[in-house]
Amino acid sequence: GISLAGFALLGYAFGCIPCSYLASRMLGQIDIRNYGSGNTGATNVYRVLGKKAGIIAFIGDFLKGLLPALIGNAIAGQEAGAIAALFAVIGHCYPVTLKFRGGKGVATSAGMIFGTAPLIGVILIVLQFAILFVTKYMSLASIISAVLFPILVYFSDPSPVYQIASILMGLLVIFRHHSNIRKLLKGEESKMGSKKNKA
Ligand code: G3P
Repeated sequence: GISLAGFALLGYAFGCIPCSYLASRMLGQIDIRNYGSGNTGATNVYRVLGKKAGIIAFIGDFLKGLLPALIGNAIAGQEAGAIAALFAVIGHCYPVTLKFRGGKGVATSAGMIFGTAPLIGVILIVLQFAILFVTKYMSLASIISAVLFPILVYFSDPSPVYQIASILMGLLVIFRHHSNIRKLLKGEESKMGSKKNKA
């Protein structure tokens, strides 16, 4: 069979497909890294180029997590799926295709979560949009989801590999939001739907 390292590599390769960057190039003829928050993620594509481009970017980055999770799961079981998807998130954040400067891992993590634990996925996406609706901060919603995900996994799934993968994923997503955390604390984070959205 394929070793866990093989699934890690497969996941990383998926993660390196820069869907949000490609969406901004193809649908807006811009490099998303030079606009808005500068992040290569669906939130920033939505902010800069609008709903349609944002949703397309989200679906692409989501599939990068979902597909490795499903493939690993089907070939070698839950642990292989979790490892493949964790490395997809790592690839999204540190893609060789963008000189290792990628996004924050939220949409790709969502794909991983729906591929491995759909019920947790539903709970977190409802919470994510509730927090976004109330606070208007996508980053805050993402950070809270990243904290809750490993906690929900811990209480619902006995696999140590899956638990550890979920903790590492949560920590990576929180770490990738360091500039958002600084802005949130200073009250300078951009709100979704407001016009003052420049980096
Ligand atoms: O999906 C990433 C989101 O949580 C924050 O993105 O562009 O507001 O930094 P952004």
